[in-house]
Amino acid sequence: MSGKYSPRNDEGDHRIKDDDPAAIALLKDEHHRFRELFDAAEDAEGDALVEIAQELCMRLTVHMTIEEEILYPATKPAIGADEINEGIVEHQSAKRIVAELEQLDGTEELYAAKVHVLGEETIHHIDEEDEDLFEDAKKAHADGKIDLDEIGEKLRARQKELYDQLGKTGDVGETEEADANEVERA
Ligand SMILES: [Fe+2]
Ligand SMILES: [Fe+2]
Repeated sequence: MSGKYSPRNDEGDHRIKDDDPAAIALLKDEHHRFRELFDAAEDAEGDALVEIAQELCMRLTVHMTIEEEILYPATKPAIGADEINEGIVEHQSAKRIVAELEQLDGTEELYAAKVHVLGEETIHHIDEEDEDLFEDAKKAHADGKIDLDEIGEKLRARQKELYDQLGKTGDVGETEEADANEVERA
């Protein structure tokens, strides 16, 4: 695998291991995709960069939402507030840049720099999750304090729900279909 970030997908705690519970495997798999997309963004410009950035913004938003709604509260009592709070503050920073990018069309002078900084910050954040938070959560799971397989099922279900919602509002075809149904009902 080439690029600046994605070689790490196969290294150390960033690898998906055979004994990773479902929650950890799911989130690491997404971290892998983020490293690949940010590598692709580094080599892209123009419309290609905008397309990659839009996919990143969408996927990061869903990922941060399921972590904050499900993973963070479920693990906080077992692993302590410090790591979780740091994660939340890093998410806040990422959400600010995502919100800015969503207002831009890619022609702006700072567009590529914003994608780059979002990448640097996100990679730092997901590296720490892989190495610290996930490893601590796995210890709590092994000790029977939390169930990361059950949490994994919840993450997957909520992730699907969020992607379905985005599909409905983001896809022109489906929006038209919904309008037609409303007319029928009226
Ligand atoms: Fe996170
Ligand atoms: Fe994450």
